[in-house]
Amino acid sequence: MTKYIKIAGLLLMQVFVTGRLFAQHRTQVTRASLLEHKVDSVLQLMTLDEKVGQMNQYNGPWAATGPLTNDDKLLDQVKSGKVGSMLNVTGVKRTRELQQLAMQSRLKIPLLFGQDVIHGYRTIFPIPLGEAASWDMNAIEKSARVAAIESSASGVHWTFAPMVDIARDPRWGRVMEGAGEDTYLGSAIATARVKGFQGKGLGNTDAVMACAKHFAAYGAAVGGRDYNSVDMSMRQLYETYLPPFKAAADAGAATFMNSFNDLNGVPATGNKLLQRDILKGQWNFKGFVVSDWGSVGEMIPHGFAKDNYEAAMLAANAGSDMDMESRSYINNLARLVKEGKVKMAVIDDAVRRILRKKFEMGLFDDPYKFSNEEREKQQWNNTANYEVAKDMARKSMVLLKNQNVLPLAKETHAPRIIGLIGPFAKAKSDHLGFWSYDWPDDSSRIVSVYDGIQQKTGANTRLFYAKGCNINDTVRSGFNEAVTVAAQSDIVIITVGEARDMSGEAKSRSNIHLPGVQEELVKAVVATGKPVIVLISAGRPLIFNWTADNATAVIYTWWLGTAAGEAIADVLFGDYNPSGKLPMSFPLSEGQLPVYYNHYNTGRPAKNDDDRFYRSAYTDLSLYPKFPFGYGLSYGKFDYSDITLSNKNPKGNTTVTATVTVTNNGNYDGEETVQLYIRDMVGSVVRPVKELKGFQKVFIKAGESKTITFTINTELLKFYNDQLQFNWEPGDFEIMIGTSSADVKSVMLSWSK
Ligand code: NOJ
Repeated sequence: MTKYIKIAGLLLMQVFVTGRLFAQHRTQVTRASLLEHKVDSVLQLMTLDEKVGQMNQYNGPWAATGPLTNDDKLLDQVKSGKVGSMLNVTGVKRTRELQQLAMQSRLKIPLLFGQDVIHGYRTIFPIPLGEAASWDMNAIEKSARVAAIESSASGVHWTFAPMVDIARDPRWGRVMEGAGEDTYLGSAIATARVKGFQGKGLGNTDAVMACAKHFAAYGAAVGGRDYNSVDMSMRQLYETYLPPFKAAADAGAATFMNSFNDLNGVPATGNKLLQRDILKGQWNFKGFVVSDWGSVGEMIPHGFAKDNYEAAMLAANAGSDMDMESRSYINNLARLVKEGKVKMAVIDDAVRRILRKKFEMGLFDDPYKFSNEEREKQQWNNTANYEVAKDMARKSMVLLKNQNVLPLAKETHAPRIIGLIGPFAKAKSDHLGFWSYDWPDDSSRIVSVYDGIQQKTGANTRLFYAKGCNINDTVRSGFNEAVTVAAQSDIVIITVGEARDMSGEAKSRSNIHLPGVQEELVKAVVATGKPVIVLISAGRPLIFNWTADNATAVIYTWWLGTAAGEAIADVLFGDYNPSGKLPMSFPLSEGQLPVYYNHYNTGRPAKNDDDRFYRSAYTDLSLYPKFPFGYGLSYGKFDYSDITLSNKNPKGNTTVTATVTVTNNGNYDGEETVQLYIRDMVGSVVRPVKELKGFQKVFIKAGESKTITFTINTELLKFYNDQLQFNWEPGDFEIMIGTSSADVKSVMLSWSK
């Protein structure tokens, strides 16, 4: 009897759930069709010029992030409905002023305000490459959330982030903006950032539209030179470079930005395959695509378009919906339509996509929805946001070396002197990094490393300071003072690295050693024989072999943002146990570039650096990076057991679990990121020597162990074959689990169809 009651109960429940799902689905469908109806009703009223106006984006008159075209008619154009969006216009006051102009236009279509909110807005977070080192998706999502809350309170509707370009060459200055070299990690981070920016969904006043950029393959610019060409196989494009974009689209990214580079001979901006076939076709993307700054017009110097008329035609037909700053659309599209070179359907499709987002953002209901002074003020110097940034900063640092010197004691019984040396010790804004806005009131919020350390230490500690040298010059006159300070100290902390504008857009460098005479300063200080802890602040993987080999400890701090000083002090004194892992390989020399962990084996692989006889190797340089992808130490010490597989001979579409026990044999509780790599031993196309396929960040107390299990299914084994079919092939697989890409336990399994 009870059995029947249970079944009846279950059936009722099912009817209820199905009913609810159906009702939900119906509401969604009605909402979607209502939206389409609204979009169509506006579109019907629009003249061709007004439609083209929506596809036009201008930089505002106050700040610029690219080469500007002087335009004294700009404001008049807003008033006459010739502008759909503006960038670099922020703040409630300015955005309101411009929106008021747009409200004078015939159809009163609101403007969209876009901005590069790349790693925080008023509270600056670590650069994205630094955040990627946390391997902590919740923290990364939170960081994007705070950025959205702060920027939306300042009238911003749309951030040009996340940048999801896979990058294997640290000479490229823009590696700082992305998640590094790995597709799997990069895809997870793309998802987290989109979710963070868009929060509970467009239409909420604290959600900004995300923009996945730069579509596509911008990170593969030849030689790491910005804006350079990209030539790659379709297999590599699909397998390595596109998945983070797909992840962003799946996470609901409202917009995409195309890129400056040409891809296999076709500039991305005029690339139909990328924008129409893949993005809007195969992926069914419903948002809109904005060009990069001037990239429509730049198809002329590319040698792909004769003039702006042709450039506008190629870009619009290829699926670029909005022209950022090249003025090619506004000056040519209407004529192109009249002359039959661009179909009205192409224009309507682009405008529909743009209007849809304006409706979804709620701007038609209230164009000043994001213009609330009170809200804006609450986000200035917001302490809760600062705490989130500090947490993110602590999680982003990577401990590269530690010869029993860290963490430092806060208090000592005997008097102690800490020597603090280097150009970043008292610096403030250099910790912010590229793509941060220099708010006058913000420098007071930034605690320097010097102050951060001073706040931590007790009465017995004295701090001695010497700058030693500037970041990037040849003057050594401060060395003597630095050496004297070091000689008087019990322990020395040196801060070196890149100034905030040495990595970023158009900041490619052929020499990525520590700039200026900073490494010489490190040498002079190490020569005193004192224990030396080196902190490196930078926007990219740098080369600092001597320092890595000779300093007592090294922490890579990236550009950590507003909370840098306090976060660094927390790590130095053990209030936070470092847990970051490198999201990019750190080269030994520029001559190795690009160097990345998931390379192919080649037909003549070298077993090691002594194995060079007719091998794929350098005769004068090691094959191995200085620090591999996934590497990073802790004050804990994590030891891995062998891997146990639930099944070594799986068949068909099943799952296998791989289990390891990780023990913290150190004296400090800490977090470890356990990484799963897989190698497909033989394929119809060659496969990388290993590929990241999973990771788990776990907290393990000193002296304790945790059992970590990964579920492996056939999805994880899939790849693109030479026909671009995405599938798995039966055969042998090496399953690797470990603490970095170069330090794993491994076991074989054989998977049949
Ligand atoms: C050019 C950059 O490539 C892009 O990332 C950025 O969003 C735009 N400029 C706007 O600043």
